Amino acid sequence: MTSTDYAPPPERERWGSRMGLILAMAGNAVGLGNFLRFPNEAVKAGSGFMTAYFISLLILGIPLMWMEWGIGRRGGVRGHSTCPGMFQSLTKMRFVRYLGAIGVVMPLLIVIYYVYIESWTLGYAYNAVTGALGEATAAGETSGFFKTYLGAGGGFLDMEDLNGSWPAYSFFGVTIVVNLWVLSKGLSKGIETVAKIGMPVLVLCAVALVVRVLTLPVDPESGRNVLDGLGIYWTPEWSRLFSSEFGPTIWLAAAGQIFFTLSVGSGAINTYASYLTKDDDVALTGLATVSTNEFCEVVLGGTLAIPAAYLFFGMDRVTEAAQSNMGLAFNTMPQIFASMPLVGGEASGTTGVAIFGTIWFGLLFVAGITSSLALSQPTMAFMQDTMGLTRKKAALVVGGIIILCVQPVILMPGVLDEVDYFAGTFGLVLFSTIEVVLFMWVFGAGKAWAEIHQGSDIKIPRLFKFVMTYVTPLALITMLCAWGYNNALPILNFEVDPSGNAYSEAGKTGAMTGRMLMLGLLAFFLILVFVASKRGHYDNLMKEGDDS
Ligand code: TRP
Repeated sequence: MTSTDYAPPPERERWGSRMGLILAMAGNAVGLGNFLRFPNEAVKAGSGFMTAYFISLLILGIPLMWMEWGIGRRGGVRGHSTCPGMFQSLTKMRFVRYLGAIGVVMPLLIVIYYVYIESWTLGYAYNAVTGALGEATAAGETSGFFKTYLGAGGGFLDMEDLNGSWPAYSFFGVTIVVNLWVLSKGLSKGIETVAKIGMPVLVLCAVALVVRVLTLPVDPESGRNVLDGLGIYWTPEWSRLFSSEFGPTIWLAAAGQIFFTLSVGSGAINTYASYLTKDDDVALTGLATVSTNEFCEVVLGGTLAIPAAYLFFGMDRVTEAAQSNMGLAFNTMPQIFASMPLVGGEASGTTGVAIFGTIWFGLLFVAGITSSLALSQPTMAFMQDTMGLTRKKAALVVGGIIILCVQPVILMPGVLDEVDYFAGTFGLVLFSTIEVVLFMWVFGAGKAWAEIHQGSDIKIPRLFKFVMTYVTPLALITMLCAWGYNNALPILNFEVDPSGNAYSEAGKTGAMTGRMLMLGLLAFFLILVFVASKRGHYDNLMKEGDDS
């Protein structure tokens, strides 16, 4: 094929409606991160967290959201749904298409373990309905229940004893099949429909639980009040925020949470935005996505687990639960539900676990699936556009990769944490830095600003142009250095594991496996971008005169 016969596929997929787009984008952002990761990060960091969180939202989250929508739509208008093409549309330097490959690989790496955790929520919803979870909770056995659910390996499956693993494997199977089925239906019929039904259901479930939690009476024995639980991380404490002891940790935790919860810095937002047309609004709709996510995170996610855990079990237990995202969701929450009265003052016991538990794990599953669809879409789009696969075949490829790569995640301790750290935490900052430099500096701040405002319904305050050009990149580079030096390097050298403890032998093996997985997939996609280049896939972006 010569370069001139390449034309962008005429039948590019589109979002069905603006409401559908907003809900799909909100579904992308609102996920397990809002309900599990947020409360934990907040409690671990302690007072001062919310201040750092809102500042990070303003100088990192919102600017990056606008930039990714701008970059994504620009690529889409030129027939490209993934970052290799999008980056190439910003500059004629050829190597940027290879940098763009990270924007396909990272979401894929995240979705590999994300879908697995998502499947636990389905398994737990099922066990809440059947009453099994309620009985385990009544017997004081929630953590034992979790281990049995996952298999015999003490939180992870044991190679020698796969017997215990059937529940986890089965629900994983169901979850992945549902995901692939939706993906194979396509953008508007699949993803958008799920978001249109799922998002309202999710918000209703969460609101119901929040109302129940906020109307809980004062604990007669301890005198604890549910609202005091909010003070744990809401109290603004500037001195702590700027102390050399706590400051850096709080800032990095808050900024890291902003990246994860808004889904920015991976390429997943870019791909969703590529299905916009040239004159679709970006500025206001992007902001609507951020607002919806923040409502679901700060108002809903923040008012559930922590205040309730504080009310029933006190501060020590909150601190303990916050050590692990999974501990809070799968251990502490069922216990809270058993203690929580349905209406009057009586603890609801097994009935409560059945009712509240179904709502809670059901809402987590919905939150999870709308995010895992978004994380899978870059690879879907890459396989369809670049490799010419049909949608069904692309879904099979995505499914094949996930099913294959999730095995070490399931079977070996340490893989999940390693991949979560490099792809789901550090990698987001790294990739955002690349994006900001490319968009605001290489492409140029003036053109970038115009690109974001093309067809827009609002005029973004000019101050943000300054923020995006100087403040955001500076903040990112500072984070990258601080984080790289303090965390990433020691982890790479096996000095500490991603949770700050010493590496065990098994953990080291897991970490190495995780690294091989990440490098392997990166190499795979770099080769595919190379093949696509040879086939002339990026040639339409290399013509003179298309750099407006
Ligand atoms: N934002 C989602 C959550 O809060 C997870 C997610 C979806 C994500 N896409 C992402 C995280 C891209 C990082 C990058 O659970």
